[in-house]
Amino acid sequence: MTCFRTVIVILGLYTCFQETCGSVLGRPRLVGPLDALVRTVEDFHCSIQNNPVNESILYQIFRDENRSKVLGFYSALSGQVAVIPLYIIPSYEGYLVCVASIQNNTDVQPSVSPRHHLRVVVPVDGAEVVVKTGSAEILEGQTLSLLCRISKGNYVSYHWLVDRKRLPQPSPYHHRNEELIIHRAVPQDSGAYSCVATNQLNATQTYISQSKPRNIMVKELVSEPELSFTMMREGTYFALVKCESLKGTPPITFSLYNGTELVDNETVDVRQFSFPITVDLERHMGWLQCQAENGDRVVHSKWVPMHVVPVGGAVWMHFDTSVGENFSIVGLRFYCSVERGTSPRYRWFLNGTALEDRGDFYWVEPQPKQSILLLSVGRESSGTYHCEVSNSFDNQTGIRSEKKYIDKEVLNQLPLTVKAVVFGCFLFLVSLVTTCCFIGCFYRNNQCHVEKSMLDLRLGLEMHKIMAADNNDHDAILLGHPCFMVAEYDNKVDEKEYMEGEELVRADKDTYSDQGESDSIDEWPEIQQELKKTLEDEDDLLDEP
Ligand SMILES: *[C@@H]1O[C@H](CO)[C@@H](O)[C@H](O)[C@H]1NC(C)=O
Ligand SMILES: *[C@@H]1O[C@H](CO)[C@@H](O)[C@H](O)[C@H]1NC(C)=O
Ligand SMILES: *[C@@H]1O[C@H](CO)[C@@H](O)[C@H](O)[C@H]1NC(C)=O
Ligand SMILES: *[C@@H]1O[C@H](CO)[C@@H](O)[C@H](O)[C@H]1NC(C)=O
Ligand SMILES: *[C@@H]1O[C@H](CO)[C@@H](O)[C@H](O)[C@H]1NC(C)=O
Ligand SMILES: *[C@@H]1O[C@H](CO)[C@@H](O)[C@H](O)[C@H]1NC(C)=O
Ligand SMILES: *[C@@H]1O[C@H](CO)[C@@H](O)[C@H](O)[C@H]1NC(C)=O
Ligand SMILES: *[C@@H]1O[C@H](CO)[C@@H](O)[C@H](O)[C@H]1NC(C)=O
Ligand SMILES: *[C@@H]1O[C@H](CO)[C@@H](O)[C@H](O)[C@H]1NC(C)=O
Repeated sequence: MTCFRTVIVILGLYTCFQETCGSVLGRPRLVGPLDALVRTVEDFHCSIQNNPVNESILYQIFRDENRSKVLGFYSALSGQVAVIPLYIIPSYEGYLVCVASIQNNTDVQPSVSPRHHLRVVVPVDGAEVVVKTGSAEILEGQTLSLLCRISKGNYVSYHWLVDRKRLPQPSPYHHRNEELIIHRAVPQDSGAYSCVATNQLNATQTYISQSKPRNIMVKELVSEPELSFTMMREGTYFALVKCESLKGTPPITFSLYNGTELVDNETVDVRQFSFPITVDLERHMGWLQCQAENGDRVVHSKWVPMHVVPVGGAVWMHFDTSVGENFSIVGLRFYCSVERGTSPRYRWFLNGTALEDRGDFYWVEPQPKQSILLLSVGRESSGTYHCEVSNSFDNQTGIRSEKKYIDKEVLNQLPLTVKAVVFGCFLFLVSLVTTCCFIGCFYRNNQCHVEKSMLDLRLGLEMHKIMAADNNDHDAILLGHPCFMVAEYDNKVDEKEYMEGEELVRADKDTYSDQGESDSIDEWPEIQQELKKTLEDEDDLLDEP
């Protein structure tokens, strides 16, 4: 192209030299729309200004890339503006040029206008959603790829709607041009997807094509099932073995295995299924497992032994209490458990009358291994309690626990004893410690402050150091003094422990705890270590003059 133009220029110059420069045509100007709608007629204008030649000039429009095909032409006298209507077709898109030449005169070289870019807009139409990944139903974790296919249109931009709500543009989904890709889809991605394709002619005219919604289903993978069974009796004993998954989009196929052997399977539209199997009591019937499957994933439950043992052995009942603000017992928990039995049923009795699950002053909390009866202690709750355990699957008479009489007075005797015991313990401790201190003072003068400070070594030690620093040359005072000081402090410590002791009585009356004692015992190794260190420090101090 450049070559072609250069040739023209050179030829023109050559003509200039051969004849006169007046025979070179000026450069034409091409004016026309930048955007044009396909299959419409648009006028393009081409003219040469200030041309002296009184000749008929031929204007032709070409695509810049192909000068062999004339798109339109016009003959005009120089000075006149040529108006060339073009019927726009998509292939006109690109650069157009206008070539001016003098008709029937090959002596004068044609001249070419600057390029004019034309954008041919084809209105968008026929948008439709295509699932590139194939099926509109995918499993959680798979990749979903949707394509917005249009039958017509160019310069198109796209956006997507899910359940008629627009997907935000900077979305977690990769969504470039006409494609929407969702990596590791989750069930929440399910919905009716449609795409909207738009293009514009110029700022004024917009064309829109919206596809029909396409339902996309992201199936939730089934979660590991739980296996549990309920014993029943209808003539013979049988168990309803329930396989249940908490998550997963149905349909789900549940299979029950006895070891490696498939017992039964069933595909259901819910997340659980119960297999009835006949059961022999007191025989180990192998290990059972549930499998659940939806899509291409199979998940297993834990292995559960199928061994049904009827209730038997001893039945135990015990209780603990909760304490109110003034040390009186306000609440009570009875526990009932049985020595053996796969499927026990617990019943509670007051004065020989069975209690329902819930009453004015109590409620029953069933648990797998035991049953708990919670009571508020008052006038109506006093009486004789016992519990009874039987098989849940037949109505044979149950095994009874021992009876226990409970009322407010009986209960509130307990804390006094506890108080006395704990209080006594602390008194004993205090006197023991005090005695130790004095013995230490009398018989081991040198280390008395050390032994005394077992109860609070830190303070004693610090004081000791201060004194040592202040009275380097008064060893006698140094050794004699801390005794009083620590002894004084001891009393405070005892008081404090005594107070703590009271609190302990309050908190742990019911559990007979002697935590206070064990706490002080726990501190012993630490104290001994510090003691050793102090002794060494002291040696150093005394060695120094
Ligand atoms: C141009 O040509 C026309 C006829 O084609 C003639 O009438 C006119 O006088 C000419 N003008 C000049 C300036 O030559
Ligand atoms: C130019 O246009 C003509 C006529 O339409 C066509 O035959 C030819 O192949 C085109 N050439 C190029 C290079 O496009
Ligand atoms: C140019 O020549 C063609 C025939 O070769 C003729 O039909 C036409 O009228 C001529 N045009 C002018 C402006 O002389
Ligand atoms: C947009 O296109 C229309 C139709 O072709 C035209 O009438 C209008 O002038 C154009 N507007 C602009 C800003 O180009
Ligand atoms: C369910 O059991 C049938 C035979 O009883 C078997 O053909 C089928 O493959 C089983 N389905 C599954 C998912 O195990
Ligand atoms: C499991 O298999 C064992 C041996 O095949 C059999 O004795 C037992 O009864 C089976 N249990 C169930 C629940 O079908
Ligand atoms: C303890 O306080 C409760 C109320 O909180 C009261 O009913 C009860 O009589 C008090 N018991 C004693 C022994 O003071
Ligand atoms: C249970 O019996 C005792 C006497 O044995 C009685 O004091 C108490 O009120 C009775 N309790 C109930 C709830 O009937
Ligand atoms: C046991 O007895 C209760 C009523 O006392 C009844 O509702 C239940 O169905 C019986 N169960 C069996 C397995 O017989």
